[in-house]
Amino acid sequence: MICDNLSVNEKGHLTFAGQDTVLLAEQYGTPLYLMDEDKIREHVRTYRDAMVATMPAGSMPEFASKAFSCKHIYRIMAEEGIDIDVVSPGEIYTAMQAGFPMEKAFFHGNNKTDEDLRFAIRAGVGTIVVDSEDELTALDRIAGELGVKQNILLRVAPGIDPHTHKKISTGSVDSKFGVTVLDGLAVKAAETALAAQNLVLKGFHCHIGSQIFESQPFITASEMMLDYIVQVRDKTDYLPEMLNLGGGFGVRYVESDPVIDYAEKIAEVAAALQAQCEVRGLPVPKILMEPGRSLVADAGLTLYTVGGVKEIPGYKNYIAIDGGMTDNPRYTLYESAYTLALASRANAPKDFVATVGGRCCESGDLIQENVSLPKPVRGEILAVMTTGAYNYSMASNYNRVGRPPVVMLKGGKSTVAVRRETLEDLCALDK
Ligand code: LLP
Repeated sequence: MICDNLSVNEKGHLTFAGQDTVLLAEQYGTPLYLMDEDKIREHVRTYRDAMVATMPAGSMPEFASKAFSCKHIYRIMAEEGIDIDVVSPGEIYTAMQAGFPMEKAFFHGNNKTDEDLRFAIRAGVGTIVVDSEDELTALDRIAGELGVKQNILLRVAPGIDPHTHKKISTGSVDSKFGVTVLDGLAVKAAETALAAQNLVLKGFHCHIGSQIFESQPFITASEMMLDYIVQVRDKTDYLPEMLNLGGGFGVRYVESDPVIDYAEKIAEVAAALQAQCEVRGLPVPKILMEPGRSLVADAGLTLYTVGGVKEIPGYKNYIAIDGGMTDNPRYTLYESAYTLALASRANAPKDFVATVGGRCCESGDLIQENVSLPKPVRGEILAVMTTGAYNYSMASNYNRVGRPPVVMLKGGKSTVAVRRETLEDLCALDK
């Protein structure tokens, strides 16, 4: 199995977090997002404990909540005592509604409007990660108007390509994110930040990309960031309290993806940082990391009901399901690989090759192509694994399809964290 929270019971049903997925589909209906809360907490503790053990005091993971945002998840992060990364007033508001301590929130984004910045300051967001000179000026003005000295990090684009999908790579020189290190632009931005009356520069941030399986791209990024910090120090005497290395450790979607030991990778990054700082005569700053996917992806699974099978002799076979790109747009967007199983007969021979197509009126609405599964019949339950990151959070109402509910599984119990969208919900904004 692709993750250790999956198994098959005596009825031949797929189980997830120890619970029978076919029974859960009956109880809650399909499509259905399941989240294994125990697995989320296990990953959070792995990151937190590894960072506390190997990095300077105060080092901490931030959950990048764009991967999965709802009130329940912010409560989990509050209970586990870690920070969060938020990217919109919507995420800020959701975290506040969950009672998350907002001083532990970092507000990111390449284009925060004046209104967004005002909203964040009023919400008591602890740190704003500033993306550009324009934003520095605007935030200084707005913080002044509101009578606040706002803590900030400055986002720098270190010029690194981590060799991941181009749509999820963000740290390269030509990226839309951050101030580029080229031509001294990022040093100039640090000077602007230090001169700002109403801003307190706590340090620097970078994020190079997503779905990264090695520690080396992070080590290269820290090297480039420390070179940059030396340039800033030499010009201004400023030493950062914090260095945020961003998110991006990968997860296993399919058997061919590597198994990754996050604690080991974090220790490798910590050791490299220590050495890199020594060489440059720098104190090791507090380190922040922003995992999103690796905290929640394999804690998620989506269940669908099969509508039927279409066989086109000499061409291909289709399995039709009652969800698709509306609840999981990642194959349509990135051709992302997933592992699928027929939850109703999980031990049956996988002797039928088919493309799994969603219910939307669009040929590209596919979940996966050419997968081997037992040939299903209408009414059987199909499971797609590792859907906890960027599925619910990227879901849409295309074709006026309502979003599925999110059901949390914990210690053998299930509870609804987000209810299913109703037809009334779909018309709620219409005049
Ligand atoms: N920090 C920053 C500033 C980010 O931009 C991101 C992701 C993260 C942290 C979290 O990265 P993670 O640990 O989840 O890899 N929708 C795409 C992923 C886009 C990621 C954008 N930024 C997908 O479905 O694969």
